[in-house]
Amino acid sequence: MTAPSPLVEPFDLVIFGGTGDLAVRKLLPAMFHRFLDGQLPPSSRIIGVAREALDDAGYRALLRQTLSAVCDAVKLDAFLQQVGYRPLDARKDAGWDDFAALIGSQPDHVRVFYLSTSPELFVDICGRLGHYRLNQGKSRVVLEKPIGRDLTSANQINDAVGKVFSESQTFRIDHYLGKETVQNLLALRFGNALFEPLWNNAHIDHVQITVAETLGTGNRSAYYDRAGALRDMVQNHMLQLLCMVAMEPPSSLAPDAVRDEKLKVLHSLQPIDAGNAAQLTVRGQYRAGVAEGASVPGYPDELGHASHTETFVALKAEIANWRWAGVPFYLRTGKRLPSRVSEIVVAFKPVPHSIFDVAAGPLAQNRLVLRLQPDEGVKLWLTIKHPGPGGLRLRHVPLDMSFAEAFGVSQPDAYERLLLDVVRGNPTLFMRRDEVEAAWRWAGPILEAWAAGNEAPRPYAAGSWGPSAAVALIERDGRTWNEDSE
Ligand code: BG6
Repeated sequence: MTAPSPLVEPFDLVIFGGTGDLAVRKLLPAMFHRFLDGQLPPSSRIIGVAREALDDAGYRALLRQTLSAVCDAVKLDAFLQQVGYRPLDARKDAGWDDFAALIGSQPDHVRVFYLSTSPELFVDICGRLGHYRLNQGKSRVVLEKPIGRDLTSANQINDAVGKVFSESQTFRIDHYLGKETVQNLLALRFGNALFEPLWNNAHIDHVQITVAETLGTGNRSAYYDRAGALRDMVQNHMLQLLCMVAMEPPSSLAPDAVRDEKLKVLHSLQPIDAGNAAQLTVRGQYRAGVAEGASVPGYPDELGHASHTETFVALKAEIANWRWAGVPFYLRTGKRLPSRVSEIVVAFKPVPHSIFDVAAGPLAQNRLVLRLQPDEGVKLWLTIKHPGPGGLRLRHVPLDMSFAEAFGVSQPDAYERLLLDVVRGNPTLFMRRDEVEAAWRWAGPILEAWAAGNEAPRPYAAGSWGPSAAVALIERDGRTWNEDSE
């Protein structure tokens, strides 16, 4: 049983990019689920904004296509009564007066402006919101990633947004932080006496973070080709996961207590640059192959031309501090891999001395596996005695907890939690400006090293685990990628 969700205070949520993929596929369904759970006050409004010439009815019809699969028509109609639409162009004046009048100017009312658009529009949109004084009081702005494509462009965006919204009004979203298992990392690490004493280089051998996707870049290839896997996944989602694993215990869950600790981790990352990028990173790009049982084209075919953009990255990161010196963090992510799986594997050191006969079988490492998706849960791999007679034989088995089985509820989507955190004004699970900058400061030299090397990414067949060099990257150190996930 889960506790009932408390009602939040009435709010207006304005989604710029309201007809886009993220809004239609993720943001609106997330709000719908919160509605079904009784968390949305009836006076709250959700307003989609985009350039398309739609009206409220047209927008609702568009959303109905996605949402009707989720629930019955009566509830859906009731939800859609709270949803409206305004056609607006961030770069043209038309419609903005009416929009401002619609939103109103009561500073005590929570107004959330979610910028789910290309980052080039962030500055224009914020400028207009400021012009109409929609940035006052309890107004908040949510910035979707990518925030820039390097440190300079991220600073430009943050400076421009910062002229209109204060840092405490600015919510830089990384939806990975809203995933249940990521929040569970906080509970596991800091709610149990068991792990924290072992959470250091005396006991942990290495950490692996894998975010594998079966999908290709599909209709996002125009965006993706300018980004690539390092900008799209590593600079944000994967570094945030790394921070949650590696940070020191914060003194509380106060937003800045947590974010201060994550920032220290980012500052402690060993640089990867032209001097060591070839040893510590592997870039790949998928070619034709078989994904989920179907033949799929390669990335250049989907794109329509050759490209040096990576759709796969594996890298070895190191954190230069007392807790983590000598403990590699292996990260890998890619499109068109054999299965959709995101997980964090904490591999512990072997026991210092074996008392068992060779005949008992090998002693395997303890591993703590946090599965983000699918089948969210936690597995702790232990060595036990194989039951029954036949001498003492060792077995490596998981203590396996699936959250869905244990709690009998499906996990909410990350956006459900995060959107309501914005309404509540809680930025704990959002990135502070200095975190984004520190992440770019680390990722930038990797991108520069790759650009200077001017080498094409290594090809890999769709449906494989990336280029063989990614296997070599970890095997060179006498370790292997977690087979359980493959
Ligand atoms: C997004 C990336 O931020 O995260 C996408 O831009 C990626 O390329 C997606 O597919 C993965 O999110 P999730 O929640 O499906 O793992």
